[in-house]
Amino acid sequence: MNNKNILDYETVELLPEENAVQIIDQTLLPGKTELIKLRTAKEIWDAIYLLKVRGAPAIGVAAALGIYILVNGIAFDGKDGQTKADTPENYPANYDYLCARFKEMKDYLASSRPTAVNLFWALNRMEAALLKWKDREGTVISDVKDALCKEAQAIREEDIAVCRSIGEYGLTLVKPGDGILTHCNAGQLATIKYGTATAPIYLGHERGYNFHVYCDETRPLLQGARLTAYELASAGIDVTLECDNMVASIMKEGRIQAVFVGCDRVASNGDAANKIGTSVVAMVAARYHVPFYVCAPTSTIDMSLASGSEIPIEQRNPDEVTQMWYEKRMAPENIKVYNPAFDVTDAELITGIITEYGIARAPYAESLKEIFAKKAEAK
Ligand code: MRU
Repeated sequence: MNNKNILDYETVELLPEENAVQIIDQTLLPGKTELIKLRTAKEIWDAIYLLKVRGAPAIGVAAALGIYILVNGIAFDGKDGQTKADTPENYPANYDYLCARFKEMKDYLASSRPTAVNLFWALNRMEAALLKWKDREGTVISDVKDALCKEAQAIREEDIAVCRSIGEYGLTLVKPGDGILTHCNAGQLATIKYGTATAPIYLGHERGYNFHVYCDETRPLLQGARLTAYELASAGIDVTLECDNMVASIMKEGRIQAVFVGCDRVASNGDAANKIGTSVVAMVAARYHVPFYVCAPTSTIDMSLASGSEIPIEQRNPDEVTQMWYEKRMAPENIKVYNPAFDVTDAELITGIITEYGIARAPYAESLKEIFAKKAEAK
């Protein structure tokens, strides 16, 4: 029997010998832990769209590793009539061919989910790594492939340090014994390690803080119940699950001292898109004077957008609301369903945005710029 804890599995990893990306199929949790191997563009696209791999940072990592294995799978041996043998003389023609294929695959993977900017951020970073190899005489395609492998692995490795840093900053905002509420899953399953919103919780747990964590179930896809409650309980953390509509009661009863949530895209004015229902939590938190913190790696901050109204919001399949998690359908046939996957929390409701470079506070138009200046300095 396998007694491995869910936190001992890698959310997303490269299997170099098999040229595959391995993920935990999160649609089966908590009942079943199944690792699946993604090898084709369609498999990677489906895994992201169907939420087998989900959460903004994990989506970015899956896309980076994914596009690497797709590029790596192209044989440069002249046998397909498109490529030539991988020699320095053939490099310019092979490189052009590689760039064209990369662009096709990038556009395809980028169409899987629209809201989490990490998907586009990771694919753009991979493209920048590829473009560095233009006009490099005397080289071969296998060098380019190696460089793309390194970049994808760097995106994955950096996520661990980023989340840990968010955890350290977040931990300065709470004290031992606090009640903490979180929404959806911005946990280890949404990242490579620690999570974003859960990072202060995991670090506090290691240091004996004895938090009481309240976890919103998160209709309609139940990421809070199926994933956050599961991973936090597996870590031995005191966690209580409640339905989304119980948040006001819990806060009114004084059980919550801080809210930590993740996010999918933050605009330059501090408006933050996260799982549907997050903005309601923020409004209730404001009503009961509970600080509301958004945990955001800088890879989730989109400084090109002036406000949250420019963030594209994904609309998903009505079945997720009417029947997906029920034994039988729980809504009338043909009922109209509204199923946006995310909502935008207005910056004015956010007490602070916790990044790996520190905590930004209002006015966010200035403080987020300072965060990026710190990032540029650190490079
Ligand atoms: O639809 P999902 O499950 O991908 O939505 C996930 C969230 O909304 C998370 O809070 C967000 O991606 C941050 S994950 C660190």
